[in-house]
Amino acid sequence: MENKTVKKNKIYLKSFGCQMNLRDSEVVRGMLEKEGFKFVDDNKKADIVILNTCAVRQHAEDKVWSEIGAIKPGKIIGLIGCMAQNHKESAFERAPALSFVVGPGDIAKIPEIIKRLLKDWGHSPKSGDSPQSISPRSLYESRIWETDNSCRPEEIYHTGFYQDKKHAYVVISEGCSNFCSYCVVPFARGSLRHRKFTDILEEINQAVAKGISKITLLGQNVSAYKDGKKDFIKLLETVNAMDGVKELTFMTSHPKDTTVELFKAMATLDKVKKYLHLPLQSGSDKILKLMNRRYSSKTYLNLIKDYRKIVKDGILTTDIIVGFPSESDEDFKDTLALFKEIEFAGAFIFKYSPRPDTAASKMPDDVTLALKEKRHKIILEIQRKNSKKYKW
Ligand code: 5AD
Ligand code: SF4
Repeated sequence: MENKTVKKNKIYLKSFGCQMNLRDSEVVRGMLEKEGFKFVDDNKKADIVILNTCAVRQHAEDKVWSEIGAIKPGKIIGLIGCMAQNHKESAFERAPALSFVVGPGDIAKIPEIIKRLLKDWGHSPKSGDSPQSISPRSLYESRIWETDNSCRPEEIYHTGFYQDKKHAYVVISEGCSNFCSYCVVPFARGSLRHRKFTDILEEINQAVAKGISKITLLGQNVSAYKDGKKDFIKLLETVNAMDGVKELTFMTSHPKDTTVELFKAMATLDKVKKYLHLPLQSGSDKILKLMNRRYSSKTYLNLIKDYRKIVKDGILTTDIIVGFPSESDEDFKDTLALFKEIEFAGAFIFKYSPRPDTAASKMPDDVTLALKEKRHKIILEIQRKNSKKYKW
């Protein structure tokens, strides 16, 4: 449905953060293209700039604020994604150039919001207006924020837009209810909701009909997927049996919900790639407890032993956080020892960053930046060697 009435219709959409965010950007683009908007790859050519943001670490947020500051005045600028949810309307104070702020639960509303803003274009702050010259009231009148995190309608997943013509990332569950103490996701993306089994299959069928042959099932914790009696293994088996699907992957898995049954399914289902991303976060039982991860270093190690026994030549990658509150030299040694023993094929190493609302943000951030950097470097060095050894 081409909307010929949209005159200012060029959009530049930039994504930050995880695979879930990249998929959300595809969803947003798919919805807006249906409404007649065009996408450009240079923000200078755009009438509307949308930044789909990540809030997992402070560093990612800082980059976005400076990016907004660098955009030429006179454009509609939207902040969407996890940062939008966390900052809500206060984002307008932090970045007066913003026109709309929409959290991940409300992305279905974006096309309507942009159309409304375009209608009010004449009333919006003009280029050259300084924030001080506009009263806060008039500022807010022309601005829109939607962060009530209402449920996403199923239709948004069916626009058929995928960046890659061969590979589709398919969301199977939204949000997370695990509340790992450092993590902002349960606040930014809301509690865990599962998509319906039949809706997921329908989306994959439509994607396959368009020539897509690689499928990645996406969720903060895919291992916990449920729809009535159907669980994640059932979903893997069903997608594996679909004509046209040639390769099947999934991410991310939480160790507490990852089972030997999953490994058996991975070993036997021919299209499932023998690849597991299983975030360890820390090798210290004290820190794992403080992180509210609900597994011990021993259960994690045993799980990996099972994985390697059952899934022959299975690739294994992980996430590690260094410098979590109260992480002592002893705690770090435990992480190092486990990290060396397991030898991951790939690892993302993060320096702990306190996030608003989280339980860990109430603990003193008492590991100095210098020490976080030192520990980060030590793990990264080991990983560089391992990555060379385990080519994948
Ligand atoms: N500080 C540092 N790293 C974090 N992660 C999540 N929250 C934080 C935080 N507050 C890391 C975890 C997670 C990955 C996606 O980001 O390792 O698995
Ligand atoms: Fe965050 Fe933990 Fe949920 Fe992953 S499982 S999104 S780390 S709260």
